[in-house]
Amino acid sequence: MDTLEAIMTRRSTRKYTTRAVEEALLHKVVEAGRYAPSGGNHQFNHFLVMRDKAAIQHLAHLAKEAFAKMEITDNTYVSLKTAILRSQKGDYDFSYHAPVLILVANQKTYANNLADAAVAVENMMVAANALDLGSCWINQIKWLTVDTEDQPVLSYLYTLGLKKQERVYASMILGYPDTPNALPERTALARKGNEVSYL
Ligand SMILES: Cc1cc2nc3c(=O)[nH]c(=O)nc-3n(C[C@H](O)[C@H](O)[C@H](O)COP(=O)(O)O)c2cc1C
Repeated sequence: MDTLEAIMTRRSTRKYTTRAVEEALLHKVVEAGRYAPSGGNHQFNHFLVMRDKAAIQHLAHLAKEAFAKMEITDNTYVSLKTAILRSQKGDYDFSYHAPVLILVANQKTYANNLADAAVAVENMMVAANALDLGSCWINQIKWLTVDTEDQPVLSYLYTLGLKKQERVYASMILGYPDTPNALPERTALARKGNEVSYL
């Protein structure tokens, strides 16, 4: 698959088999993230590559508990509202039981933290597609940690190696899609937005 095809056929995968991602493939995906551009070539991204099912499930559990305590207001972002409502019902797992969760952390005080993490995640998702793996952007850890100093999710991430001066700005899940042919769904969604003005 060439680069343009990998970009144009990348889709989000939200159902995975339990098959582990081979180390060599995982390394290729993570390297694609590490080779993304960075503002001023600072390379401040810190990739926390979670492969332990129990650890991912513990993080999902802490996130569910945190969302369940939140209140919905008129301004609550629609996806966050879903997370809160489902967590309050006890039925929410942001990780979709994927075998790998990659958290991309960056320096709290660095102006391009979100941009650098985002380009790394896009590189990794395109690489995953080229390697016949499924992936999906995961935003919940950012919601829960970016603007806080005191949060059980954050405390747990410190035990996994997140540094005090870092926060998670973008994340993704990765694994083998649970589809009849074990390949990612690759039919592009029609573009309704993303206006272009050629000048
Ligand atoms: C910034 C951002 C945040 C997203 N957050 C989530 C998320 O938390 N959970 C999820 O299932 N999908 C998430 N997505 C995936 C989008 O829902 C998905 O890309 C979109 O619906 C288009 O579908 P496609 O990726 O299959 O083309 C996110 C995507 C982006 C770019």
